[in-house]
Amino acid sequence: MIWASARGCRVTDGEGREYLDLSAGFGVAALGHRNPRVMAAIGEQRVVHALGDLAEAEATVRLRHALPSPAKLGLSGEDAVEIALRTALLATGKPGIVAFEGAYHGTGLLALAATGLERFRAPFAAWLPGPVYRFPFGEDPGPLPVDAGCVIVEPIQARAGARVPPDGFLDLLRKRCDKAGALLVADEIYCGLGRAGEMLVSGELADVYCLGKALGGGLPLSAALFRSGLERAWELGPEDVYTHTHSGTPLACAAALVVLDEVPRLLSEVKRKGEIFARAGWQGAGLMRARRGDAAKALERGVIVVPAGLGNELISATPPLTISDEEIEEALGLLEGC
Ligand SMILES: Cc1ncc(COP(=O)(O)O)c(C=O)c1O
Repeated sequence: MIWASARGCRVTDGEGREYLDLSAGFGVAALGHRNPRVMAAIGEQRVVHALGDLAEAEATVRLRHALPSPAKLGLSGEDAVEIALRTALLATGKPGIVAFEGAYHGTGLLALAATGLERFRAPFAAWLPGPVYRFPFGEDPGPLPVDAGCVIVEPIQARAGARVPPDGFLDLLRKRCDKAGALLVADEIYCGLGRAGEMLVSGELADVYCLGKALGGGLPLSAALFRSGLERAWELGPEDVYTHTHSGTPLACAAALVVLDEVPRLLSEVKRKGEIFARAGWQGAGLMRARRGDAAKALERGVIVVPAGLGNELISATPPLTISDEEIEEALGLLEGC
C-alpha cells in the first residue's frame, strides 16, 4: 500500500481507496495527519535550516523554553535514547545498562544493546556495546549491578504490545537507582506526550526522559529531557561532541510548539476514548492499545494497524489522539473477527 494522501485519521492510497488509520504512522500523528495548525506553523518559518549547536533558529530556541526542563535535541527516537544512555555514562562514570525483556529502544547500536527483542539484536550481536543486564519487565530487578550507570525502561512497553507494568514498578526502579547511584531513564518515545493519557507516564520519577515520535508533529524530532542540573554532564568543552547536522531542525521545532500546546487539552479525552478500546478487549492504556489479530486482514477491511507483541502475534492501535468516537466505533466494527 502506498500512501497518496493523509488527513486527520484517514489515509488514501494510490488507487483512491480510503483507510481508517489506527497507527498514526507509528504514533507520530498525535494531532492527526496534516493538522492545520501544524501545517501553518511549518509554513510560517523564515529559517528552514540553521547552524545546529553553533547557532539555533528562533523556533528551536522557543521550543527549548517550552519544554519542561533542559534538553538535548535529536532527530530520531534512537538519538534521544543514545543521548540518555551517554548522559548516564558521563554523570556516573559507570557503563552498565539495566534494561528489560520486550523493550524496544531503537536500532542504532547503543539503543539496540538495550533493546530486548532478540530478532533485532541477533544479526549485530558481535558489535553491541555493554554490559547490559536484562530483567523481566514489571519485576523487581533486585539490587543493581555495581557498574550499572542507569536503568532504561519504557513506562508502558509499546512494540511488545502496549504492556502496562504492575503499579509501583517505576517507584521501585527509582529506589533501586537511588541505592546504586544510577540514573533512571524513561523511554517515553511512544507512550509519552499524551498517548497514554498523561504528558509523561513516569511523572517526576526519572532523571532523563526520552521523547520522539509525536513531538515533531510528523517531522523528525526527538529530545532527551534532563532533571535540572544533569545537562551539565555535557559541558565537555567548546564543541558539542554528540550532535547531528539537523539536530533541532527549525521546521520540526515549530511543529513541536503546536504539539506541546495542543496535547495537554486532549488528555482527559484520550483516557475516555481509551476505555472504548478497553471495553472491546484491547489491553493497554489511553490510546496505546493492542490485542490478538492480523494486520494484513485488517488492511483488507480498510483499517491500518501495526503488528506488535513479542512474536508479532498482536495488532496495535495507536490512533491520532484526535480520533472521534464515531471513527473508533467504525474501526472496531471493521476489525471484528480480524
Ligand atoms: C519506545 C521506543 N523507543 C525508541 C524508539 C525508536 O525511535 P526511532 O524509530 O524514531 O528511532 C521507538 C520506535 O518505535 C519506540 O517505540
